[in-house]
Amino acid sequence: MLRFVFFLLPFFGTAQGGSFAKLGVNYGTLGNDLPSAAHSIELLQSLHAGAVKIYDANPAILRALAGTRLRVCIMVPNQVFPSLAANQSLADAWLAANLLPFYPQTRIRFLLVGNEILSDYSISSTWPSLVPAMANLHRALRARSIRNVKIGTTLAMDALKTSFPPSAGQFRDDIADAVIRPLLRFADRTSSFYFVDVYPYFAWASSPSSISLDYALFRGNSATNYLDPGTKLTYTNLLDQMLDSVVAAMAKLGFGGVRLAIAETGWPNAGDLDQIGANIYNAATYNRNLARRLSERPALGTPARPGEVMPVFIFALYNENQKPGSGTERHWGLLYPNATRVYEVDLTGRLPDAGYGPLPPPGNNKPYKGKIWCVFGRRGKSVNATAVGSAIAYACGQGKGTCDAIQPGGPCYRPDSLTAHASYAFNSYWQQFRRSGGTCYFNGLAVQAAQDPSKSDTLFFLLSNITFDIENMN
Ligand SMILES: *[C@@H]1O[C@H](CO)[C@@H](O)[C@H](O)[C@H]1NC(C)=O
Ligand SMILES: *[C@@H]1O[C@H](CO)[C@@H](O)[C@H](O)[C@H]1NC(C)=O
Ligand SMILES: *[C@@H]1O[C@H](CO)[C@@H](O)[C@H](O)[C@H]1NC(C)=O
Ligand SMILES: *[C@@H]1O[C@H](CO)[C@@H](O)[C@H](O)[C@H]1NC(C)=O
Repeated sequence: MLRFVFFLLPFFGTAQGGSFAKLGVNYGTLGNDLPSAAHSIELLQSLHAGAVKIYDANPAILRALAGTRLRVCIMVPNQVFPSLAANQSLADAWLAANLLPFYPQTRIRFLLVGNEILSDYSISSTWPSLVPAMANLHRALRARSIRNVKIGTTLAMDALKTSFPPSAGQFRDDIADAVIRPLLRFADRTSSFYFVDVYPYFAWASSPSSISLDYALFRGNSATNYLDPGTKLTYTNLLDQMLDSVVAAMAKLGFGGVRLAIAETGWPNAGDLDQIGANIYNAATYNRNLARRLSERPALGTPARPGEVMPVFIFALYNENQKPGSGTERHWGLLYPNATRVYEVDLTGRLPDAGYGPLPPPGNNKPYKGKIWCVFGRRGKSVNATAVGSAIAYACGQGKGTCDAIQPGGPCYRPDSLTAHASYAFNSYWQQFRRSGGTCYFNGLAVQAAQDPSKSDTLFFLLSNITFDIENMN
């Protein structure tokens, strides 16, 4: 039982230490090549994960977890929760269909309502339903006398309008009173947590010249420490700094006592050419040091919350090949889809650095200097012409004049092939929109390349089994 003190502590409020922490792991399933649920649970156990978080209430996964010691966090999907706010009997029904068949054999301990909904302005009309949905689920649990399942929601760091210095942390005006205050009141009343998705990687990668990589990877020194002028607290790492900005923001709304849980954190093991610092070396360093810090007893907490024990879930179990967005999105895994480890990491935090074998040296810790093109590049062999056609249509439909040059009679119309037109359209789109968040992905049909497709004759690159058909544009 001792091993589980990490997750029991917050529920019973004891301060006994002595055990080692066990990190949770996010088990995302956006891949078409992932191991079965049962195999995945075995893999989580062999990684010595203490808990697992899934993104829905997948029955196959919840069944596979039955009888294991893993603590489980499930989610109500974004499309579903508004109806649970409107109608108590629908909240009861959701629980009856998704939680009760598996509880208590499966040790469900957290129920998260919606995933980063406050980052998605396209569903802002549902935001006011968040806390009412949580309250209805809470009533439904109470009605069944279930008291060891905490209810929360995950929030990204963009819930804050200010996060630096940490003492200046403040929630966005559009949500502070309307959503966050009732959310914090609910968390306070139900002894639950503020669940934050916190990625020092993104903060560092967006300003690598002003933030030290060592500070982001928990291996800073007195030269990289940061002294918050507001509190005079000293920060030794970026994660603590980001967490304490949330603590400060909560305090400003009158709820400085709500506990934190980290619903997602991690570091990508690979990414696109232009994505700095996404490599195995940094990912291993971040997660190993995170595990080691969390294993300390008494708990380290953060400078503003010394001694606080936090549930933490690393993102993610697998590299997921169907996640859209830039290259890093598909490379957060501790494991490849073939179940082998991307790098060694002891989630109990007990293994010292000397206990690990050597890591591949980081190749991209400095900004990429060369030019980059976004070109057609397909994995494996077959090309789905319909899919390529719709990707071209999408690329050409977003801006003004994006694809004029490949219209009949245009300077790049020839060669009149689907792949040549795709490369032109993808690159033209990406050069216009990359600064505003456009990605070189197109459902896996596009990749970044260091060669100018228009400068070469018909070329066929074979690079780590990605085929590029790059054809002359003249
Ligand atoms: C709530 O949902 C139940 C079950 O679908 C339905 O019978 C009932 O009419 C709904 N109540 C309201 C007020 O919409
Ligand atoms: C698993 O996949 C990785 C990445 O594709 C590869 O490097 C490794 O060799 C594979 N291992 C096995 C045992 O197939
Ligand atoms: C490339 O991928 C194809 C299809 O996925 C596979 O059959 C082939 O063995 C791979 N080639 C190499 C060199 O990895
Ligand atoms: C080709 O792509 C289209 C559109 O994305 C899809 O509907 C269709 O199922 C795909 N066909 C095959 C054989 O994969």
